[in-house]
Amino acid sequence: MTVKILMLGDVVGSIGCSYLGDGGRLRRFVSENKISLVIANGENSADGNGITPTSARELFDAGVDVITGGNHTLRKKNIYSMLDDDERVLRPDNMTRCPGNGHMKVDVYGYRILIISLAGQVYMDTHASSPFDKLDAVLAEEAGRYDAAIVDIHAEATSEKIALARYADGRVSVVAGTHTHVQTADVCVLAGGTGYITDLGMCGSGAGVLGVKTDCIIRKFRSPAPVTFEPAEGELSATGAVFTIDLPGGRCISAESVKL
Ligand SMILES: [Fe+2]
Repeated sequence: MTVKILMLGDVVGSIGCSYLGDGGRLRRFVSENKISLVIANGENSADGNGITPTSARELFDAGVDVITGGNHTLRKKNIYSMLDDDERVLRPDNMTRCPGNGHMKVDVYGYRILIISLAGQVYMDTHASSPFDKLDAVLAEEAGRYDAAIVDIHAEATSEKIALARYADGRVSVVAGTHTHVQTADVCVLAGGTGYITDLGMCGSGAGVLGVKTDCIIRKFRSPAPVTFEPAEGELSATGAVFTIDLPGGRCISAESVKL
């Protein structure tokens, strides 16, 4: 059989969360496109960066099944107990000595889908260990206990994301990049059968700069004084990609970018 997995780029602020839920937008897309699993990157889903129990619950209510993490996941302390208690909320697996977990398994039609959240090391302030080594370690640790593996690589450098995808090609079903908020035009299935996109994009406002009000970002670039990020408004959209996976086996047979 085949299953379709929707992965959404960084959800930015309460405006991004509510966009997915408004009028059942995400649930309607899931139903119309026969999606079996929805994964969204939620590390910016709270206003002013980070993730809170409120923003996580809003994403679940909208129809997201699993939330992946990034460099801002630990920014707000009130998420820490949820990271420990709710396996559906991940932080990057290669960020250690911090609350929560970086991978989990979800059942889809009796198949065990392993979801791994990783962070990049290049131009990132995550204190993360090598995502390459961590991927190897998780796949070895879970060997024989999953039917397909999906990776979110939350990273700044395009080269690091492509390199990780080629390193994982044929061993996981999908490697999807997040963090840079602009959807890339390179969605594909690699030679070994791994679906790939360098960046899924963003769920939020396209009117500012990467989902944040333009004047906040310009002030940030022009002055060393700290700036509180406020979500931009208007020109809302949600971008990501749909990966069709063949099971058993886990080979990705098609990949396409989408915009809700
Ligand atoms: Fe990020």
